[in-house]
Amino acid sequence: GCSSSEENTETIVPGTNSGFPPFEYTEDGELVGFDIELAETVIDRAGYEVGEWQDIAFESLIPSVLDGDIDLIAAGMTIGPDRQEQIDFTDPYWESSQAVLVQEGGEFQPESVEDLEGVRVGAQGGTTGEGEAEALVEDGLVAEDDLRRYDNYTLAAQDLENGNVDAVIVDEPVAGSFAGDRAVAIAFVIDTGEQFGMGMRPDDERLSDLNDALAELRDDGTYDELVGEWFE
Ligand code: ARG
Repeated sequence: GCSSSEENTETIVPGTNSGFPPFEYTEDGELVGFDIELAETVIDRAGYEVGEWQDIAFESLIPSVLDGDIDLIAAGMTIGPDRQEQIDFTDPYWESSQAVLVQEGGEFQPESVEDLEGVRVGAQGGTTGEGEAEALVEDGLVAEDDLRRYDNYTLAAQDLENGNVDAVIVDEPVAGSFAGDRAVAIAFVIDTGEQFGMGMRPDDERLSDLNDALAELRDDGTYDELVGEWFE
C-alpha cells in the first residue's frame, strides 16, 4: 500500500479541462495554452516537478484535487465563495468578465441581457457562465428547456456556428479566441469582474511556494512574456 508518508511531495500533478482557448486547448493532440505554460512555469520556479497533466471534466476538477488524483487545478477557474469552501486558491492570475457570443453577421444581435428574452442560451456545465445563464432562467427571460449545457466550450461554440443555439455565455478572452477562429462574434459583455486562481487542497502547504513563484514571475517579466505569447 501507499501510506501518506510515502506521498511524493516533490511532484505536483496538474489538472485542467481543455476546450477553453487560449487558456487550455488541444492542438495536434497536445495540451497547450496559457494556463498550461503558466502552471508549469510556476511549479518549476517553486522548485517542484511537473507531474503528468490530467485533462478531465470541469466539474470533476475540485473532487479530483480533494481526492488527491491531481494536486493543482489550472483551468481558468474563477475564485468564488462556494469553491473556496472546498479548496484554496493561489493569488489571482487573471481577470475576466462574461461575454455573450452570437453568430457573426447574423440577424440576432443582442445588446443587453434583456435582448436574450426567448432565445436558446448555451454555457459549459458547472461554470460561472452557466450561472449567468441560470440567472436568465430565474428572471423568466429564458425557458429552462432553452438553457443548453455543454461538456466544454468548444462544443458550445460549434453549436452556435451551426445555429443550434442562439447565444453562448463564456469568459471574455475565450469568447475573443472563438471569435478569431470561427464565424461567431461578441455581442456584449456582462461585467462580472471575475478573478482566476489555481486551486489546491486546503492542507497542501506547497501553495505558499506557488504564490511566491507567481509573484516572482510577475516581477521579472516572465508573466508578461507568457501573456504576449498566448493573447492577441
Ligand atoms: N471561469 C469560469 C469558471 O470558473 C469558466 C472556467 C472554464 N474552464 C475550463 N477550463 N473549461 O466557472
